[in-house]
Amino acid sequence: MERTFIMLKPGVLHRRIVGEIISRFEKKGLKIVALKVMRIDPATAEAHYAEHRGKAFYRDLTSYISSGPVAAFVLEGEEVINTVRRLIGKTDVKDAVPGSIRGDFAYTTMFNVVHASDSLANAEREIGIFFRSDEICEWEDGNADWL
Ligand code: CMP
Repeated sequence: MERTFIMLKPGVLHRRIVGEIISRFEKKGLKIVALKVMRIDPATAEAHYAEHRGKAFYRDLTSYISSGPVAAFVLEGEEVINTVRRLIGKTDVKDAVPGSIRGDFAYTTMFNVVHASDSLANAEREIGIFFRSDEICEWEDGNADWL
């Protein structure tokens, strides 16, 4: 069983489409085990995106992520990391196909609506940055056989 970290970026809250996007993960059958709205301070934004330090878009990216509230959550399931990456679509919005979240809701790569972990190691690291262990709620999925 894997867990992955998802963050809906500030524009999503401004556009009032948090529910619409979370609903796509739920309809797929993925299980939410943690969820919160929060503001990310600049130092935490830099730590989260450390692998992009030095790239041309890094400063704009970290200041955008800190510019307003985000909705952060953790999903759990078999192969959830890859499943979520497919649901959200490619990072470069020109390659994000219609039907994916970025394909449907994003027009520029900087404001590509959503971040999701790209590997097991990054999922563990990112969940650790944004959630304490007592904020993660383990629950039994009574519908698991139907999904
Ligand atoms: P995300 O999945 O949050 O991970 C890193 C982010 O950097 C990415 O989504 C985009 O928002 C942003 N990003 C990646 N490449 C570019 C780019 N070429 N120009 C602008 N922003 C980018």
